[in-house]
Amino acid sequence: MLILGLAGSPRRGGNSEILLDEAMWGAKEAGAETEKIVLSSLCVQPCISCGACEKTGECAVRDDMQEIYSRLEAAGGIILASPIYFYSVSGFAKAVIDRAQAMWSRRYVLKDPEAPKGKKGAFIGVGATRGEKVFEGACLTVKYFYDAVGAGYDRELLVKGVDAKGAIRDYPQYLRQARELGRLLVSGD
Ligand SMILES: Cc1cc2nc3c(=O)[nH]c(=O)nc-3n(C[C@H](O)[C@H](O)[C@H](O)COP(=O)(O)O)c2cc1C
Repeated sequence: MLILGLAGSPRRGGNSEILLDEAMWGAKEAGAETEKIVLSSLCVQPCISCGACEKTGECAVRDDMQEIYSRLEAAGGIILASPIYFYSVSGFAKAVIDRAQAMWSRRYVLKDPEAPKGKKGAFIGVGATRGEKVFEGACLTVKYFYDAVGAGYDRELLVKGVDAKGAIRDYPQYLRQARELGRLLVSGD
């Protein structure tokens, strides 16, 4: 199984990317092939709501998202890791999510029986604050992103109260949980 990791933080080596790397190790340990895409290194424009995908099932905007569509199709499992930005995912992650509207159209507008399905999905979120609702917006967004691309919302690791770059390394329990998340995404039910 191919596990696709999407790193949503613009901070290279930041908290969510560290956890993603652990999760990818876990997936590898469980026998998966892994591939990581650092979203901030690509150029993905926001959705322009042109409506083309409702007719063709494909996005008319030609940029690096075309490559991400093909990797999303190929993957058996997806792990999106993002910092919490204003109670949601980062802008880099949100641009990709909005562009998944093409896959949503293929599934729900065109009702293409060959639209991808049966993929596993996991979300890793890291926020600096400790509010009760810190992950609510992001989790809903990711859940419906996964629905659009044919994945379930199977696992999550949500870490509150971690802010400075790399500070997640001071919490070995979260590193362990991330590795376990990757392993279980591949081998669990
Ligand atoms: C633009 C911006 C918005 C943020 N918004 C929130 C927020 O709404 N809630 C929160 O708990 N932390 C917020 N943070 C803090 C980050 O989520 C936190 O620093 C996190 O550890 C960063 O993860 P990273 O190292 O993977 O980038 C924000 C940070 C930035 C730069």
